[in-house]
Amino acid sequence: MSIKVVSTSPFADQKPGTSGLRKKVTVFQTPNYLENFVQSIFDSLEGFAGQTLVVGGDGRYYNRHAIQVILKMAAANGFGKIMVGRGGILSTPAASCVIRKYNAFGGIILSASHNPAGKDGDFGIKYNTGNGGPAPEKITDAIYDITKSISEYKILEASNLDLDRIGESKLGDTVVEVIDSVADYAELMESLFDFDRIKLLLASPDFSLRFDGMHAVTGPYAQEILVNRLGAPASALQNCVPLEDFGDGHPDPNLVYAHDLVEVLYGENAPDFGAASDGDGDRNMILGRKFFVTPSDSLAILAANAHHVPAYKGGLAGIARSMPTSQAPDRVAARLGIESYETPTGWKFFGNLLDAGKATLCGEESFGTGSNHVREKDGLWAVLFWLNVLAARQQSVEAIVKEHWQLYGRNFYSRHDYEGVDSDRANTLVNNLRSKFAELKGQKFGNYEVAFADDFSYTDPVDGSVSNNQGIRIGFTDDSRIVFRLSGTGTQGATLRLYVESYEPNIAKHSLDTQEALKELIEIADQVAQIKVLTGRDQPTVIT
Ligand code: G6P
Ligand code: ZN
Repeated sequence: MSIKVVSTSPFADQKPGTSGLRKKVTVFQTPNYLENFVQSIFDSLEGFAGQTLVVGGDGRYYNRHAIQVILKMAAANGFGKIMVGRGGILSTPAASCVIRKYNAFGGIILSASHNPAGKDGDFGIKYNTGNGGPAPEKITDAIYDITKSISEYKILEASNLDLDRIGESKLGDTVVEVIDSVADYAELMESLFDFDRIKLLLASPDFSLRFDGMHAVTGPYAQEILVNRLGAPASALQNCVPLEDFGDGHPDPNLVYAHDLVEVLYGENAPDFGAASDGDGDRNMILGRKFFVTPSDSLAILAANAHHVPAYKGGLAGIARSMPTSQAPDRVAARLGIESYETPTGWKFFGNLLDAGKATLCGEESFGTGSNHVREKDGLWAVLFWLNVLAARQQSVEAIVKEHWQLYGRNFYSRHDYEGVDSDRANTLVNNLRSKFAELKGQKFGNYEVAFADDFSYTDPVDGSVSNNQGIRIGFTDDSRIVFRLSGTGTQGATLRLYVESYEPNIAKHSLDTQEALKELIEIADQVAQIKVLTGRDQPTVIT
């Protein structure tokens, strides 16, 4: 087997976004497009000769092809060993788990998360470092710089490997090990949670659950953990056969896209607990019977109940949330007497806090929750955490959430997305807001008075790195907030996200409808940002 050096020329559009490089499959099919990016990853790294690389993806269309290319390129570039999930499958949290467990140098994850898949869908690739987490900006910036001047890549001339058979083979001098995609991850889950207690809950005739894999990567994980190890009936799983096109769905676990699950949980004889995970298994949505738990509340409630879970019994070091996530978790941190951290959007910002032992639990409004057990957010982990809490407390999801609000007050929270907006108009909207900060401060809108308006900037408390322009915040004197951000994960046009939050200590008002409770703030947002005029839209595309 010989190493081929192929000359190539740069592509101008290979800047990684919030979570790696995401493009249409057809873009990745452009000759050398994938190879250029992979070589740029390797060229940005130092000291990996003879080390281990983990490779796996969410199983979407193009996954298998991309993995064969990456294996041959990793071998040609001098990795000593490559561990790849069977069939090319590793959920994002499982990849993080495997990188950590086997002290790998890093990993390449093929995923465009919840974005639609298939020939006309999206594909994505990202690099994770040895701590199991997404590469920090320092590395993604270096990768991008290299993509702009790359002139050649290295690949081994070899035939494709059989990815479906567990075991070792060789690519040149490099050992390739096909591993069980689920086993290491399932073992880790078993070490964190009280499986015996959860088993009892699932065996009880008074409790039923439904998990929706959305035809994406979590199906086999849910089968092994929920059914084989915890004894849930097979009927507790739906859409758990992974498909390359995700069944033409949009595997984003929210009230809009996880409609199959929502129908069941809001239907007749609804189960007690429902959950879904996204394309690559790192997001989660939690439902009770006819009851939705916002991701922000979920993080707050898991933190407040962490003492029920064996892995977190000893207490939490701190709680971290992304800036647009509601402030509900901060209230729990304050009561527990621990630190709370506010980071920019993107899981990568939690890595340093977790590594430094400053935070134990992390979460984002975008349906991501996780802990220091890996360095990615983790969908099934959140499901198991909830099941562990339900098993310990023997109360319904709704009762637990409402009790939480009684104790801490309720943070009403909603996100309005305007998808596929013209990029220039979206930028104008954001720039207009930036020019108004001084004038907004102290301004009154009905019952609300602006306490501050700024562009969120974050200084990492561990390495001192600064990230500017992370979203526009308008805070009011009663702790309510309006936040504007442009998505960093879309592949077409711009997506404007409006995040709205108010705080309600009065228990009598806790059962208000969220949109109703936030109505005035939503109107203020439109007034200040001219959303309807500038996006040309009357309504958001998605409300969560
Ligand atoms: C990915 C990241 C998350 C982030 C989310 C939303 O899922 O892993 O950390 O919160 O994207 O990003 P966006 O830029 O689209 O709001
Ligand atoms: Zn995801």
